[in-house]
Amino acid sequence: MSGNITFTIIKPGAVAHEHIGDILKMISEAGFWTAAMKYVKLSPGQASYFYDVHRGKPFFDGLVDFMTSGPILVAILERENAVEAYRKLIGNTDPAKAEPGTIRKLFAESIQRNAVHGSDSDINARKEADFFFSKSERFDRHGNFLELVP
Ligand code: CMP
Repeated sequence: MSGNITFTIIKPGAVAHEHIGDILKMISEAGFWTAAMKYVKLSPGQASYFYDVHRGKPFFDGLVDFMTSGPILVAILERENAVEAYRKLIGNTDPAKAEPGTIRKLFAESIQRNAVHGSDSDINARKEADFFFSKSERFDRHGNFLELVP
């Protein structure tokens, strides 16, 4: 069964270019409930931990530099089949390959400065959501604390 949450980051470039409002509108219109949301500025240690799976790749240092260059907006999104639905909404990692009308096609500057992050699996959605939000910061559509199911 597919999980009902995914985790997203609106990255420094999209925050600096004031695309937050447009991106959140697209998220809401696609049927997602924003269960948690806040601004943070990552330290190099936090960004390296978050992107640990990419450590050693040629783009890793540039990715950490970019992700620590300014504030980001982090959020937990709830919807049926959330991971797959959100990946469809944001489009390919490389904006040059993203479908028209997707968030990355509309707002990404390059594959590195690609506007948003979206979890790639239910397990990672849970891990990423837990990294940024405690239980008292997450709410379901009825205003109750959101439990993250394994
Ligand atoms: P994201 O969804 O946040 O997950 C990992 C990030 O690494 C990805 O988006 C891109 O921003 C970045 N990335 C992946 N591949 C490349 C690449 N070939 N060159 C530069 N950055 C990349």
